[in-house]
Amino acid sequence: MAELILVLSQEEIETAVANLAEKISADYHRREPVFIGVLKGAFVFLADLIRHLSIDVKVDFVGLASYGNNRSSSGKVRLTKELEIDIENKDVLIVEDIVDSGLSLTYLVDYLSAFKPRTVRICTMIDKRERRETDIRIDYAVHVTDKGFLVGYGLDHAEVYRNLPAIYDLK
Ligand code: IMP
Ligand code: MG
Repeated sequence: MAELILVLSQEEIETAVANLAEKISADYHRREPVFIGVLKGAFVFLADLIRHLSIDVKVDFVGLASYGNNRSSSGKVRLTKELEIDIENKDVLIVEDIVDSGLSLTYLVDYLSAFKPRTVRICTMIDKRERRETDIRIDYAVHVTDKGFLVGYGLDHAEVYRNLPAIYDLK
């Protein structure tokens, strides 16, 4: 039987996401950034984050797949949905659910650079560091952890648990 150990409660997430939105609003004051959510996992975080902003933003999504049904990266990243908004000369903020090996983000930053954005920064709900394989720089993170396999608040295991309002370690 799978066991779920609480990592971040719904209340802790709400407070942390609101605080982060305030910081991002200050950092991007008068810049009308484009937030790019990485499907599928980031849709819950992105939806909460943008509703706490005090600046104008544009929102788009890209789809990335690397995991299949396993708990570690296959190492091969695949684009499952293309960018639609024009980001040339724009300030882009990538919004991720969790950064693990960093391979997905390295792939995505490379993909986006072809569209000539002005700046690209990275915001993630969870920064999970133990298995990092690239030296990608994370600009904003709600929660930093070493290891574990986290589910809930958009994060899945084999497509299940995305709907949970809190974040858990799946044992
Ligand atoms: P990376 O390419 O290894 O950094 O993996 C990034 C993607 O793998 C994330 O966007 C998630 O979709 C998935 N992933 C990595 N670790 C976890 C986890 O602990 N729980 C759920 N999904 C994860
Ligand atoms: Mg993801």
